[in-house]
Amino acid sequence: MTASIIAVPTAAGSAGKTTTVVSLAAILGQRGRRVLVIDGDPQATATEWLGVDPEEPRVDIGAVLLNNASLAAATIDTVAPGVQLVPASPSLDGDLIELGKVLGPEQRLPRVLRDVGADVVLIDCPGAISPFTIYALVAARAVLTVTQPTMKELRGLPKLEALITDVQDAYNERLVLSGIVPCIVPAATAGKLYVDAMAQLRTAYDGLVTPAIRRTTRIPEAHSHSTPLPLHAPSDPATADYQAVADWLVERGLV
Ligand SMILES: Nc1ncnc2c1ncn2[C@@H]1O[C@H](COP(=O)(O)OP(=O)(O)O)[C@@H](O)[C@H]1O
Ligand SMILES: [Mg+2]
Repeated sequence: MTASIIAVPTAAGSAGKTTTVVSLAAILGQRGRRVLVIDGDPQATATEWLGVDPEEPRVDIGAVLLNNASLAAATIDTVAPGVQLVPASPSLDGDLIELGKVLGPEQRLPRVLRDVGADVVLIDCPGAISPFTIYALVAARAVLTVTQPTMKELRGLPKLEALITDVQDAYNERLVLSGIVPCIVPAATAGKLYVDAMAQLRTAYDGLVTPAIRRTTRIPEAHSHSTPLPLHAPSDPATADYQAVADWLVERGLV
C-alpha cells in the first residue's frame, strides 16, 4: 500500500502547523496507523515536541536530502506510540543552501519517500515559504494547511493556493489542497472579529474547512513537556478537536 503523504505548510507565520502535525500524528498512531513525521523546520519544533533533542548530533532530514544518509538511517522512534520521526536540526538551514547548488533538488524527497514503510507521512514545513516547502509540496499528495481566525491570517491562503498551482504545473499535477484547519480559535465570546473571520473562512472554502481547534493553555504546556497534546492531556477539549480533525481526514480517505 502506498503511504498518504500530507504536507502541512502555510504561506507565512505561525498558526499551529507543528501543533497540528504532532497532535494528528499521535492520534493516528494511537489508532494503529504507522505514522512518519518529517520535520522540515530548522527550528525543529516538531522534533523537540516528539521528545527528541535537536541539539544532539544525529542524522537528520538535511543529511537525507543531501544523499549523505538513507531515510531509514534518519528514522527514529518517538515518545508517541506508532509515530516515527525524521528529525530536523539547526544545520538544516545550511543544508538547504547546499541543496540549492545541486541539480533537481526538488526530486529528492519524492524519490526518498517512494518506498517509505509508513501508512501516513506528515511533513511539517517551516514558518514562511522556503525551498523545503517546495520539496514537501512536490513529494505530497495532499496539502493540509492551518490558519488562525483573523482576517490577516486568512489573507495568506490565496498565496498558498498560488504556490500549489505553480507546483502542480511544474512538478506534481496530482497535488490537492485537501483541508484547512482553523487553529488557536478563541471562544465565541472573545469577540465578533473571530466569529466573522470563521464565517468568512467557511464561506470562501466551504468543504475544505475541518473542525476547529480551540485555544487552550494545555498546548504550550504539552510542548514544554515534550509530549504531544493527546498524550499529555487526553481529556482536554482541544484533544477532542484534533480527534474530530482525524475523523474528518479518515472520512475523506486522506489517511
Ligand atoms: N490551540 C492552541 N491553543 C493555544 N496555543 C496554541 C494552540 N495551537 C498552537 N498554539 C501555540 O501557538 C504557537 C504556534 O504554534 P505552532 O504549532 O508552533 O505553529 P507553527 O508551526 O505554524 O509555527 C505555539 O507557541 C503553540 O504552543
Ligand atoms: Mg512550526
